[in-house]
Amino acid sequence: MDNDSANNSANKMWGGRFSMSPAQIMEEINASIDFDKVLAPQDIRGSKAHAAMLAAQGIISKEDEASIQAGLDQIMAEIEAGTFKFSRSLEDVHMNVEARLKDIIGAPAGRLHTARSRNDQVALDFRLYVRDRIDEFDSALAGLQLALARKAEVHAETIMPGFTHLQPAQPVTFGHHLLAYVEMLSRDRGRLRDARARLNECPLGAAALAGTSFPIDREMTARALGFDRPTANSLDSVSDRDFALETLSAASIAAMHLSRLAEEIVIWMTPQFGFIRLSDRFTTGSSIMPQKRNPDAAELIRAKVGRIAAAFQSLLMVMKGLPLTYSKDMQEDKEVTFDALDNFALVIAAMTGMVEDMEPNIEAMRRAASSGYSTATDLADWLVQRLGVPFREAHHITGRIVAEAERRGVELEHLPLEAMQAIEPRITADVYSVLSVENSVRSRTSYGGTAPHNVREMARLWINRLGENQMRG
Ligand code: ARG
Repeated sequence: MDNDSANNSANKMWGGRFSMSPAQIMEEINASIDFDKVLAPQDIRGSKAHAAMLAAQGIISKEDEASIQAGLDQIMAEIEAGTFKFSRSLEDVHMNVEARLKDIIGAPAGRLHTARSRNDQVALDFRLYVRDRIDEFDSALAGLQLALARKAEVHAETIMPGFTHLQPAQPVTFGHHLLAYVEMLSRDRGRLRDARARLNECPLGAAALAGTSFPIDREMTARALGFDRPTANSLDSVSDRDFALETLSAASIAAMHLSRLAEEIVIWMTPQFGFIRLSDRFTTGSSIMPQKRNPDAAELIRAKVGRIAAAFQSLLMVMKGLPLTYSKDMQEDKEVTFDALDNFALVIAAMTGMVEDMEPNIEAMRRAASSGYSTATDLADWLVQRLGVPFREAHHITGRIVAEAERRGVELEHLPLEAMQAIEPRITADVYSVLSVENSVRSRTSYGGTAPHNVREMARLWINRLGENQMRG
């Protein structure tokens, strides 16, 4: 509509300030088709199951069912081919599909909506969508775990500093560090699986809110759509979106984990650290500073968690004050969720690529690990184990030895024996066996510790486990 005619239909008193007529504004705020069209495959899947059930129960005729099924198949083909015309005036995906069905098959299309409402329909579509995405994330996260575990196996002996407070604390292996993320992602997958299990009840048949007087078979539609059972309360079925909240919450936590790894990659990539190299595939140059290699992908992964966690907040705020059952507020559940889940998928894919791509600078890592007195705890442990000194006292003696090394500007393994004996006379040359970073990591054999033998075993365990998963599909 051009401006003139828009102004003509706008309110005479305040229309001057508005470029749209009230009806247009209503359509603008009310229509969801611009974003909910991604639910079309789920909407059609749900309608096909519903139609089959209506016919099986004798609620519609077999003939009508057959033409509904054929029409829905054609619509799906049109959507896949990109020829389907979505119309804003038809408000949302449900009405767009149904209107097109009427175009194709005529009168029988009007029977599809028997014993159903858009309220249980949208609850179903959104659940199916979120469930599909959870399944996709599960295999994507498994792929990322596998990439990490493979790199961990190769670098089971590659020594790097372990940090607390981002201060060098004790030497660890790079493989051990990578496997820490494999564990986190395993819990992330567990949270998504839990969300999926609770989500997996079928709301279809709750109708508008109270159920229906038609003799429907909810077990049948639930089974056909891969649900464990139908939902047990019609009011609850159409009015909760906790399944999306749970999924967003699990995705936020997983994205937070990936953001931490991304931050480490950013730090490791600085020339000051120089721990890893990323190829041109995951870095960018600067338009003005020729020497630069920027870890843009890592930075974006680090940032995306904000967007994903914001979607959780946003949906929580939408839901928090709504009386039962459905209110149109709930249409606001989709856009943020779609955006968050799309970005979550992107984050996982980018991180997987980066993990496969990155190569550690083994010398730089080792050098950093052996500076900063990172084997001081090994020295204290030696005093406890060999001399029977209580740990608190050993800590004190070690502190004085570190101060002496600092004064002389040498690492612990290069401090002369006499210098140590001047502080604790019972120390023998055997102490040097624990002062190198190699011996330090090799000695951490406790379950879950960083000893290369442990790390290799754990990496293999994960590789086998994840490989089996992939075989099962
Ligand atoms: N587009 C709507 C949504 O996303 C579908 C449900 C409409 N229900 C209604 N009672 N107006 O929530």
